[in-house]
Amino acid sequence: MNGKKIVVLGTGGTIAGTAPAAQDNIGYTAGQLGLAQLLEPIASLDKHRLVIEEVARIDSKDMGFDTWTCLALRCAHWLAQDDVAGIVIAHGTDTLEETAFFLQAVLAPAKPIVITCAMRPATALAPDGPQNLVDAVAVAVAPGACGVVAVCAGTVHGAFDVTKQHTYRLDAFSSGDAGPVGYVEEGCIRLSRSWPQAGTGSIGMVEILAGARQWPRVEIVMSHAGATGRLVEALRAQGIDGFVVAATGNGTVHREIEAALLEAQAAGVRVVRASRCPQGRILERPGDALRAVALSPVKARIALMLELFEAC
Ligand code: SIN
Repeated sequence: MNGKKIVVLGTGGTIAGTAPAAQDNIGYTAGQLGLAQLLEPIASLDKHRLVIEEVARIDSKDMGFDTWTCLALRCAHWLAQDDVAGIVIAHGTDTLEETAFFLQAVLAPAKPIVITCAMRPATALAPDGPQNLVDAVAVAVAPGACGVVAVCAGTVHGAFDVTKQHTYRLDAFSSGDAGPVGYVEEGCIRLSRSWPQAGTGSIGMVEILAGARQWPRVEIVMSHAGATGRLVEALRAQGIDGFVVAATGNGTVHREIEAALLEAQAAGVRVVRASRCPQGRILERPGDALRAVALSPVKARIALMLELFEAC
């Protein structure tokens, strides 16, 4: 580890979760332990270099805009310090990919932000959190590391590509067609492609978020067999700024939802298509009436919210 500090931010998750019995890997409560309790027993970490800060202690299914804003502000603060090499964030697995995408989109940091997690609670017979934390710190001090990445089960995933793919296995994440950024092997990073791009974040977005009274309302609707346009109409009646349609295959949308979405678009509501397929990206065809993005529906929603912020 070089001489600079590593800031470890806690948000909760299974990594900080506790269960009544050590053999119980699912009946736990997320976000119970503090970061100091998680890090203290890990002898291989140089604690003098770690700055610990608790941002939240939640189950990441409950992640919200306030916590994201707070996280982005704390990351921006720490990244600006010359004596900080990078940031590690302990996070739940369930919305990790959304937080990773959000931070990469708004910060695109020149230093690494490494989000890590666990599939088993801290009280498990064989918890995966401690090794993931050790690996995350190794990535945070790796020469040349930059951008937002996720580290889980020895694999480094880029923020734009990472998705949770498994409900139970320790190696729960995938980068799909893009493949992982690399692997952590005994504290060494074996890169398989380049780090996420630094320096393309939304200019001033963190300040805009901090001053925002509310975020644009963007909802995800799914195209499926037997779909109707009624959900789209009901949401429009409530007042909505944008829709992401989780489209079938290469971006196709049931004709009834499509008609409702085209009407919404004509009335000024932003609409984007994102495929509900876990692999691949929508290849746009000439004449497509609804814009497509090369993102999963949950990430497309974040991208559209940020776009709407910028348009204000
Ligand atoms: C969470 O996402 O906070 C709970 C589930 C997990 O971390 O695996």
